[in-house]
Formats: sequence, structure tokens, C-alpha cells
Amino acid sequence: MTANTPIGIHDLSFATTEFVLPHTELAAHTGVDIGKYHIGIGQRAMSIAAADEDIVTMSATAAAPLVERWGTERIRTVVLSTETSIDQSKAAGVYVHSLLNLPTSTRVVELKQACYSGTAALQFALGLVHRDPSQQVLVIASDVSRYEPDSPGEATQGAAAVAMLVGANPALIRIEPPSGLYTADVMDFWRPNYRSTALVAGQESIDSYLQAMAGVWKDYTEQGGRPLHEFGAFCYHQPFTKMAFKAHRHLFSTAGYDLGENDMSAMLRLTTAYNEVVGNSYAASMYVALASLLDHADDLSEQSIAFASYGSGCVAEFFGGTVVPGYLEHLRTETHRSVVERRQSIDYATYRTLHQRSLPEDGGHHMTPRQTTGPFRFAGLSGHKRLYERS
Ligand code: CAA
Repeated sequence: MTANTPIGIHDLSFATTEFVLPHTELAAHTGVDIGKYHIGIGQRAMSIAAADEDIVTMSATAAAPLVERWGTERIRTVVLSTETSIDQSKAAGVYVHSLLNLPTSTRVVELKQACYSGTAALQFALGLVHRDPSQQVLVIASDVSRYEPDSPGEATQGAAAVAMLVGANPALIRIEPPSGLYTADVMDFWRPNYRSTALVAGQESIDSYLQAMAGVWKDYTEQGGRPLHEFGAFCYHQPFTKMAFKAHRHLFSTAGYDLGENDMSAMLRLTTAYNEVVGNSYAASMYVALASLLDHADDLSEQSIAFASYGSGCVAEFFGGTVVPGYLEHLRTETHRSVVERRQSIDYATYRTLHQRSLPEDGGHHMTPRQTTGPFRFAGLSGHKRLYERS
């Protein structure tokens, strides 16, 4: 290993929920023209967590194939990023560490900054590997997005987890310095500790995202980054897939490029295939876009990919990576397609029942109904302790 040893994403796997609510079902309830969902925001369906699924079960499901393929020997750090945390103190990754039988000689921590935190986890992982290239870091981003029923945000809900193994000489993507950074104290989207659904100022959140794109680009350029035309593909945070197109147009215009509509859809449509049927997975969303790109594009070897990460509140980051030749052999395309296709479609009433569910707070012994057919489940609560098991 030398100072120039490439570091990046060695493997990537994504998981979502047992259930899916098509937007046609939602439209039948809200009376909204389906064109607003399908075209206006670019969403067709949303993943809905079963009663016995949460960020932990999705995380373990996403990460298990990485551990099976590469073993646990080199993993000394697990960073789980989420904004839908299940405990104010204990890191959700500790449950995942247990479900995956990872070695005790591991550090585990949770990160939060809205939808941006998956990128913070990736960047911190790159730093750890840079310090000791023999180590790998398991980075997980996992979220369940929930808004008030009948609110404008409802149609953008979703849930997913992405697990990435970060290490030296990566098989998928070399991540390169520099990064363009941007932070501003704005209240565009937030969730106070006493709420289970997010609060959002819709149009302000879109404006803030776009302003952050201009901010990260300015800093990226000042840090000596590549010119925009060198990137062959762009992965954006996708709170709804139309947002990627808005962000792309804004970024190009900020950078002084004239972007034709055809160019734009050709470059972006491959990144939206999973998110348009999964919905907003917050911290995971940009990495679900990456999974979609890798699974649907022809050979991207040696192409540069731009990553534009945004988390309300707000923090954003722009950075680049290069696809490693031979990466196609390591993809999990069939599995990814099947995690989307295997979901059971539910009707509006079932969705509302799941949405309204809240956990008992009396400290008693409460088992959750068995609904998921995935490999891990949230079995219940006992004495205020969450219980997880393999299915
Ligand atoms: N056919 C086709 N298009 C239609 C249509 C129809 N029948 N009816 C409406 N539309 C179009 C509108 O013209 C509009 O398009 P443009 O944005 O291109 O103008 C689009 O559909 C949406 O219409 P509205 O703006 O009227 O929709 P809305 O008021 O219901 O709100 C929203 C949209 C603000 C995105 C809302 O869904 C929301 O609040 N979402 C949650 C917040 C969010 O995702 N913000 C994104 C940035 S913040 C972030 O990225 C962090 C995060 O993850 C939350």
C-alpha cells in the first residue's frame, strides 16, 4: 500500500421493505391527478415498512450480502447514518453488528444530518482507510421517511437502506478528493424529537437544495475540482426523482453550461429507476441512485461520476469518483431488482394502518405481528428494549 493507493466503494448492496403502495392507490384517495405524481414529482410507488421492519432490519438485510461475500476480518468500523433513529442513546448499528455476528473488536457509531449523513459516513470511512488501508469500514445509510397523511410530502415517502464496504483498492468506485462543501442554518425540513413525522416547508426546501448545489459547486471549483464536462454521470440526492432534474439543470447553469433537455434525461434517467418506485430514503437516497446507475448503465469503466449530496437544515457536499474496470462482475443487479419486485402491493387502508402504528410506551412485553418475509425482523419490545431476530 502506498500514499496513492486508491480508496473507495468496494461493494454496495441495497434493501427495502416488505410492502409497496402504488401512487395510483394514493391518488384514488387524495383525488390528485396521477400525472402530478408520475410526471410532476416523478414518483410511481413508495416502499412501506411492515410492522416488524425498521432501519435496523433494512440495514442488516442490505449489509448481510457484503459480509457473506467478503467476510468480517477487515471490518473494524461500522457507521450507520440515519435521520429516523430508533433510540436517543444507543446506535442502531450495534443491533446490526449483533445480527451480522461482527467481531467484538469493532467500533460502531451513528451519524445524523438529515439526508446528508450517508455522505459524511462515506467521507469519514475514506479517512479511516487512508490511515490504515488494511481496514475496511461498513457504511450503512438507512431511513424510513414519513410525513403527515394528506400533506404535500406524503407522496414522496419511502424507505430503504444501502450498505457499502469502503476499503483500499476498491472493486466498484475510487472516490477522489476534493469535496465541495456547503452549510447554512435553514429550517426547510426538520423533525423535533417528539414527532414521528417530518415538518417541511416544501418550496423553501427545493430552493435551499438548489442554493446548496450552487454553494458546493463554488467550493468544489475553488478546491481544484474537475470541470463539470468531465463527469459522465451524476448522482443526486433524490427526495423525489424530479428533484434530480431540477438540481442538474441548476448545477449546469451555475457552472455556465447550456444543457439540452435530451442530454439531461439521457444522463439522469438511469439513476432514478429504483428511487421512483422506492420513494425518499433520506440518507440512503443518493446511494440508491448510484445502485440504479450501476445496475442499468452499459459499461461505465473509467467514467467519472459526480455525487451531489444534500441534507436539509442544511449541509451539502459535491465530490467525484471513477468507476473501476471490472466492476460489472461485482454488481448485485438481479438481487436489487428482486428486492424491488418482490414487495407486496398494499391498498390505501392497509398503508394508513401501518402509518398510524405507534409503539407501546408502558415497558411491557409486546410482540410485533409477523409480516416481513425478509431475513431479519423487529420482533417486539420488552422492558423498553427492542428485540431483533433472524426470520
Ligand atoms: N401533471 C403533471 N405535472 C403536474 C400535475 C399534473 N397533473 N400537477 C402538478 N404538476 C407538477 C407541478 O407543475 C410541479 O412541477 P414543477 O416543480 O416542475 O413546477 C410538480 O408537479 C409539483 O407540484 P406542486 O409544486 O404543486 O406540488 P406540492 O405543492 O404538492 O409539493 C413538494 C411538492 C414540495 C415536493 C412536496 O411533495 C413536499 O413538500 N415534499 C417533501 C419535501 C421535499 O422533498 N423537498 C425536496 C428538497 S429537501 C430535501 O431534498 C431533503 C429531503 O429529502 C426531504
